[in-house]
Amino acid sequence: MSEIQKAAEIIQEGGLVAFPTETVYGLGADALNPIAVARVFEVKNRPQFDPLIVHVADIRQAEILILKFPEKALKLISKFWPGPLTLVLPKSQMVPDIVTSSLPTVAIRVPNHPMALELIRESGRPIAAPSANSFGGVSPTTAEHVRQSLGGKIDMILDGGPCSVGVESTVISFEDKEPVLLRPGGITVEEIQALIGTVLVQTNPAGKPLAPGQMENHYAPRTPMVLDISLTALPGNKKMGLLSFQKPPANPAFTAVEVLSEKGDLKEAAANLFAAMRRLDSMGLDMIVAQPVPHEGLGRAINDRLAKASAKKAI
Ligand code: TXA
Ligand code: MG
Repeated sequence: MSEIQKAAEIIQEGGLVAFPTETVYGLGADALNPIAVARVFEVKNRPQFDPLIVHVADIRQAEILILKFPEKALKLISKFWPGPLTLVLPKSQMVPDIVTSSLPTVAIRVPNHPMALELIRESGRPIAAPSANSFGGVSPTTAEHVRQSLGGKIDMILDGGPCSVGVESTVISFEDKEPVLLRPGGITVEEIQALIGTVLVQTNPAGKPLAPGQMENHYAPRTPMVLDISLTALPGNKKMGLLSFQKPPANPAFTAVEVLSEKGDLKEAAANLFAAMRRLDSMGLDMIVAQPVPHEGLGRAINDRLAKASAKKAI
């Protein structure tokens, strides 16, 4: 039996399998099995009011889960699925309440990763999966990251190597008449607007959550992280790490420096982001200083994660 067949059986029996997607690793359970889904919340320590994304192999498998697809949603689907785009749509009664935190909508996407697609097809189930990390922590982009945070608590980890995109999917809600961006991610707002016109932006880095999952403090390393403080105003007596976009000027104040992309490529920076945060987090530093990246394209998703990771103010 192949690894994926074994994993598919575990899903069918109500177990939990971590699996690779193009964005981050997911912690998967049969989306139609409320007990299996309850275990996902438990293992992650995730509050029940934060609903999960359901992963399907194609739009046909989505059809029984969704009441209706607005025209603009269909346009996005035909261009970006499989891919890092999640749509929030009115759910059918097939979807258990625990998956959606009792909301009338469900978040759904087709991941662009051969192992994920094979797992969904082989199990014959839609798979509910949040990122495979403890709630609020840094999302995993390798199987080893998953092992570090959830190993021992879940039934299996499928290893598909490092994730190519590196930040989570873009979440667009069609709950209201007009589409609303709930989370910037792997498909850029520019690409989406080019296809369907204006999208309202409802991400909320500073205030209280407007929608599930828009918690201010998220994606956070254990080491306190600050965003964009002046490099000349650094406290002198602390072990500091720098998360830099391109190569920074040599600064002896930093014990460790992680460069996201020497050549200033946002795609490369996104792919490196979470692994770099984890490396800095493992070094026993007093503080991590993160530099924001250009706020365009994938840069919006990166800056969103940096802002949330540094929401717990350190100084
Ligand atoms: O790239 C990704 O999206 C990864 C991979 C594994 O697919 N998954 C992921 O899941 O990031 P998670 O649980 O970490 O984030 C799901 C986001 C949360 O912000 C959640 O609140 C939002 O989607 N969400 C889910 N269902 C929703 C709904 N019905 N209405 C509004 N937001 C919803
Ligand atoms: Mg997550």
